Amino acid sequence: MPCRIDDAERVSRPILPLAEPLAWIDTAFDALVAAGLERPHRVRIGRQGREVDLDGRRLVNFGANDYLGYAGDVRLTRAASKASCAEGFGAGASPLVSGHSSAHEALEAALSGLLDVEAVLTFPSGFAANTATIPALVRPGDVVASDERNHASIIDGCRLARATVLVYPHRDVAALDRMLATTPAAARRLVVTDTLFSMDGTIAPLPDLCDVARRHGAMLMVDEAHATGVFGRRGSGLVESLGCADGVHIRVGTLSKALGAAGGFVGGQEALVRWLRHRARGWVFSTAHPPGVAAAATRAIRLLDEEPGRRRDLLDRAREVREALAAAGLDTGAAGAQIVPIIAGTAEEAVALSARLTARGCFVPAIRPPSVPEGRSLVRASLSWHHTADDLAALVAALVRHAPRRTAQQHA
Ligand SMILES: Cc1ncc(COP(=O)(O)O)c(C=O)c1O
Repeated sequence: MPCRIDDAERVSRPILPLAEPLAWIDTAFDALVAAGLERPHRVRIGRQGREVDLDGRRLVNFGANDYLGYAGDVRLTRAASKASCAEGFGAGASPLVSGHSSAHEALEAALSGLLDVEAVLTFPSGFAANTATIPALVRPGDVVASDERNHASIIDGCRLARATVLVYPHRDVAALDRMLATTPAAARRLVVTDTLFSMDGTIAPLPDLCDVARRHGAMLMVDEAHATGVFGRRGSGLVESLGCADGVHIRVGTLSKALGAAGGFVGGQEALVRWLRHRARGWVFSTAHPPGVAAAATRAIRLLDEEPGRRRDLLDRAREVREALAAAGLDTGAAGAQIVPIIAGTAEEAVALSARLTARGCFVPAIRPPSVPEGRSLVRASLSWHHTADDLAALVAALVRHAPRRTAQQHA
């Protein structure tokens, strides 16, 4: 018999005014603003480059991950346009169905050569690469150990996996060792780390991580998002420059930072990539990125080979900037690459420092929680091959004038 609302019940139940279901957002947003965490919605006019036009102001650009200056390079635009004309703009389907074009195939071959691995799988973003890969490797009952400063996409990948997550202190291999010793023998173990940490500019102790992972029979997965294109003789990243290829099983990277294009990738053994093609949900159930984007990334990989001087210049200049800041008594923590953080303290202090730098013509964005822990808000200068000696001198002068002096202890 069909279920009917009783007439008497209908009459007796009071009709309440409906609450606006999204009303909670205003309250939650007000709290966020009060905590100094409102984020500006900026509009960039024109391409990324040495300078950037933001909200009508022309500023020297220390706020892009365009480390080698390829994001606005016309050689990538031409490659994208040629492939788009030949293969169409949209990929039209997941790679598994019909979205994997010859441009994607060429990109994966170029990446396999760059990393010197058996196989590579490309994803629409680096974020997708991490969130899709981790749950394909570990399940409930397994263990994943993750550095406390890992990128949000790694954190989310760990959550999606529903494995037991062990968060170890930043770069603390001894703590990781102790944690892994307590894990059940039957569980699969995965250790995951950024190689170059995106907010602190610190470098993971890869040789020691390889050693610990090997002793505990753990898989080691690294995310080279900010190191791809910048480190290594071929430019493949820190795994290459630190000589750790044999100890790292899963190599993630992005095409969206030094390579100036978009997308993410995972490289390793053929068996790993074949498994991901069947089990990485963010790959199986998502449209492939446009063929033109893949072609632009392939062109950028060729440029790594043709223009090795760019990464050398970048790292030399980054060292000079860090040394100049240190000589002036500023503390950049343990930063060791082209990402130069200056710790400001609270979210408000970071925003105020960023505004002072903007007033002096340098765009250096404030980084606040949840991107960094509470009390460690900072401004982050992302250096690029584009920057001239004058740009870097202006940055150093502005920081020396406005940034707080901090002791090493305050970074702890
Ligand atoms: C360490 C790290 N991994 C992954 C990503 C995500 O890469 P994408 O921007 O290509 O999605 C980022 C982006 O900032 C990152 O810093």
